[in-house]
Amino acid sequence: MLNNDIGIIGMGVMGKNLAFNIARNGYSVSVFNRSHNETMKFLFKNSIDLLFPFSDLEKFINSLNKPRCILLMIQSGSPVDKIINILLSYLDSGDLIIDGGNSFYKDTIKRFNFLQKKSIQFLGVGISGGELGALQGPSIMPGGNIESYKLIAPIFKKISAKYDQEDCVKYIGPNGSGHYVKMVHNGIEYSDMQLIAETYSLLKNLVGMNNIDLSYTFKKWNEGELCSYLIEITGNILCKKDTDGNFIIDSILDMASGKGTGAWTANSALKLQIPCSIVTESVFSRYLSVLKANRMIASTILSGPKVSLNSNFNKEIFIEDIRKALYLSKIISYAQGFFLMKKASEHYVWNLQFSDIAKIFRSGCIIRANFLNDIVTAFSENNNLIDLLFTPIFQDIINLYQLSLRTVVTEAINNGISVPVFSNILSYYDAYRTVNSSANLIQAQRDYFGSHTYNRIDQSGSFHTNWLE
Ligand code: 6PG
Repeated sequence: MLNNDIGIIGMGVMGKNLAFNIARNGYSVSVFNRSHNETMKFLFKNSIDLLFPFSDLEKFINSLNKPRCILLMIQSGSPVDKIINILLSYLDSGDLIIDGGNSFYKDTIKRFNFLQKKSIQFLGVGISGGELGALQGPSIMPGGNIESYKLIAPIFKKISAKYDQEDCVKYIGPNGSGHYVKMVHNGIEYSDMQLIAETYSLLKNLVGMNNIDLSYTFKKWNEGELCSYLIEITGNILCKKDTDGNFIIDSILDMASGKGTGAWTANSALKLQIPCSIVTESVFSRYLSVLKANRMIASTILSGPKVSLNSNFNKEIFIEDIRKALYLSKIISYAQGFFLMKKASEHYVWNLQFSDIAKIFRSGCIIRANFLNDIVTAFSENNNLIDLLFTPIFQDIINLYQLSLRTVVTEAINNGISVPVFSNILSYYDAYRTVNSSANLIQAQRDYFGSHTYNRIDQSGSFHTNWLE
């Protein structure tokens, strides 16, 4: 009779690698997959210490220690509800279901409430790091009841990524908070990737760098304050050749897809009325990239400037301006992401601890970056920080680098190179530091055509003007 520590349902690449990671760390793992896929065939043929494959769901469930911990690593959406409903007829009260997929946080809240009524514990857990992270140590964001988390915490701590020996897993908060934080992580991931893509475009099309120089530049930048996983892999991608000796990057179709988490982040920002312009613009940029057919027509009939650099254009100085613009933009992007989480925490009463979140983002996940250490410091001093941009450490960098962002955006615009997120960030930045904006005119217009009223700067209360009188 088996008494395994954990059961995993779903032997896709993430489920399989997590199973190997957990078993390697000394825990016995039962695994189940709906279909007899390659991993299951492999496991049935080769006995691997502490990994037990099952093709029968009831036997899989009976192989687990009580209270049972079952980790779902399946496609998000309705498959999660389907398997939960099936599991219900086998589980006992107090058993724990963990959803480790990229589920929508509102679905997680619904599932949590539904299962609570059935006395089944439920955790919605964000897991980041891609397939390699799952195998070697991911960043883990668990949401649900703290007692439920305590059941699985030893395993999660053991398998997670480490940063200075600290585990990259921390209890995030109630119900959907773990998946929410993972969603914002992905929103920041979209923004980072778009910013790097715009940087690549500027270096290639404006500065005229070849792939080897591009790769070298990103690798060099990765040794400094920009040091991060996404900069590192960009340096590797740009110099990778296929068997014919051609750069792979030059053969990849320029249409970026996505599974929706970036759009969810943008949607949440819209719902909470938070100006998360960077992730929103990054999502739109992917959508625009997909309109390849339209872009091909537009390129032949819509005019714009060609790249032509002034005689006083200094390549080296401009490359350094791009580096500074990228770092500054990254700071503003993470600040927007953390601000969104702050507002969500207030709205959903999650009591998120932002230094913990920044800590677990430092290793294992896709947006890991050295400068997260500064974010940890800022939030350790004050969890209720109004905005990361107001902290002395970021303020100093911003004030020092904002001119570079202006130079980069101006040069890009003058040469007809699209930099939607860089230019968005500059406009956001300038709007943010403007005391008297033009929104007074919008209020006047609203009142003019719809009697929506306005507030005054010199008197309290709501006012309406008969504008036609
Ligand atoms: C991670 C990633 C991962 C995500 C992919 C693809 O943290 O490991 O965020 O969860 O699914 O990056 O995302 P898109 O297909 O939406 O680009």
